[in-house]
Amino acid sequence: MTEAWSDDLLLSVPMIDREHREILDRATDFGGAVDAGLPKKVLEQRLAAFIGSVDEHFASEEQLMYASAYPDLEAHHAEHNRLFTQLHMVGEEFGSGKIQPGGALGLFLRVWTEQHIVGADQQFGGFLKETGQLGLAGG
Ligand SMILES: [Fe+2]
Ligand SMILES: [Fe+2]
Repeated sequence: MTEAWSDDLLLSVPMIDREHREILDRATDFGGAVDAGLPKKVLEQRLAAFIGSVDEHFASEEQLMYASAYPDLEAHHAEHNRLFTQLHMVGEEFGSGKIQPGGALGLFLRVWTEQHIVGADQQFGGFLKETGQLGLAGG
């Protein structure tokens, strides 16, 4: 699998960019394991690592939204919850063998993550910049 990270995904919000990169690196690790035909146990571990990095990131991004009094916090939080539920479902179905490992799953994880970053996250990054609050995120 090719490198998932692209500079187009940069929001210029250091803390968030760092975490997004971590998430996409985990997606690449998972896709690489699928492509290499590694054992299911390894795939499960890598998928769990990806999901874990997403969970941690959602929590820290939401904390930043509270701290900066972001007006769209509720909608963004709801989107995180939707994605969280979907992702955990995928994790469980993969574990129980309902979903087969394949390029499609890796692609799904990647597209899913990128869409959220260029959508809701980009808006939040813009808000932090406009309101001069980048310092809250290490900027
Ligand atoms: Fe987000
Ligand atoms: Fe994010």
